[in-house]
Amino acid sequence: MKKILVTGGAGYIGSHTCIDLLNNNMEVVIVDNFSNSNEKALDAIKKLTGKEFKFYKIDYTDKDEMEKVFLENDIDAVINFAGFKAVGESVKMPLEYYTNNVYGALVLLDLMRKHNVKKFVFSSSATVYGDPEKMPLTEDCKIGGTTNPYGTSKLMIEYILQDLYKSDNTWDIVILRYFNPVGAHESGLIGEVPKGTPNNLMPYISRVAAGKLKELSVFGNDYDTKDGTGIRDYIHVVDLAHAHLKALEKLNKEDSGIYIYNVGTGTGYSVFDMINAFEKANNVKIPYKVVSRRDGDLPVSYADTKKAKEELGFVATKNLEDMCKDEWNFQKNLNKED
Ligand code: WQD
Repeated sequence: MKKILVTGGAGYIGSHTCIDLLNNNMEVVIVDNFSNSNEKALDAIKKLTGKEFKFYKIDYTDKDEMEKVFLENDIDAVINFAGFKAVGESVKMPLEYYTNNVYGALVLLDLMRKHNVKKFVFSSSATVYGDPEKMPLTEDCKIGGTTNPYGTSKLMIEYILQDLYKSDNTWDIVILRYFNPVGAHESGLIGEVPKGTPNNLMPYISRVAAGKLKELSVFGNDYDTKDGTGIRDYIHVVDLAHAHLKALEKLNKEDSGIYIYNVGTGTGYSVFDMINAFEKANNVKIPYKVVSRRDGDLPVSYADTKKAKEELGFVATKNLEDMCKDEWNFQKNLNKED
C-alpha cells in the first residue's frame, strides 16, 4: 500500500500518524481545514521526516472539493481523523457534531466507493462501550448507551461501517477504539493544542504546571477505586499513531473484512497517579483541589489489548513517564511562543 489519504492530518493524532507513515515510506495526502489545527503542524511534519507530501486545505464534508482529491491522486487507503472531539462542546452543538463527524464520514465513504478505494481506517473511541459491562474492555463487549453527541457520532459511524461491509464485503475496514491519548512528539514540535480551556486531564495538568491555569479540579475522590479517583488507560500519542500503521498492514495482507481493535496500554492509572507522575517526571508542582464528580464520567476504563497484540502485532511501548515528559516538553515550547 502506497498512497494514503489522511483527513484531519494536521490535527493531534493525524499529524503524529503522518510522521509515522512518511517515515515508513508511504506517500501521504493530507486534507485538513485547520478547524482545530494549523499550518505549523504541517511544517513540523516536513521538518521531522524530511519528506514532502500533498496538502489540500479543504473541509472534508465538501463533496465537490473532496472529489478533486480522489481524481488527482491514486489513493490506496484512507485514514479519517477529521472528527470533532470535545465532549462538552458536542452537547452544545449537536448538529455541528453530527454534520462534521457523521455526514463527513458518509461523504468520504461515498467518494471512496465511487473511486473504488475500499480500505478504510476509522478513529473510534472507547466511549462507544457506554456503561461498560466488564473491565478490562474487550472488543466483543456490548456497545451503545453513549451519553453525548460526540460519543454517539462515533457509535453511528461504527454502525454505518458494519452495514456498509454487509452490503459489499470487498470493503476492508479497521475500526480503532482509542482509549485516552496523551503526550506529544518527543521533538516537542507537535502535540495537542486544545481550543480554550482543556477538558481532558493531561492538557489541563500541563497548563497548570505552566502557570496558565491556577489549579486542577479533581473530579471526585469517592469512586470505588484504589484512591477514590477515576481510572483511565492513557496511551502515548506516538504509540497510538503507530497502531494506524499496523492497521494499514492488516488491510494490506488480509482478505477483506471489518476488524475492531482497542488501542490502549491495558494499564489503568488514577487521577492522583497522573498528578504524581507528572510532578515526578518534570520536577514541577501541580496544585489541585478535589471537587464533585463530573457528570457522565465512568469510575474505571481500560482496555484489554490482547486482540490488537495478536492480530495487529501492536503493543504500546511508551510508559507513563514518557507521556508526562513529552507532554511537558511540548507545553514548554508553546510557552516560548506565547
Ligand atoms: C480522565 C480522568 C476525569 C479533567 C474523554 C471522552 C472520551 C475521549 C477522551 C476524546 C477522569 C478526570 C479530568 C479534570 C479530572 N474522547 N479529570 N479533572 O473522561 O476518560 O474521556 O476524553 O477525545 O470520549 O469522554 O478523559 O481526560 O477528560 O478524564 O479529575 O480537569 O480525569 O474525571 O477520571 P475521559 P479525561
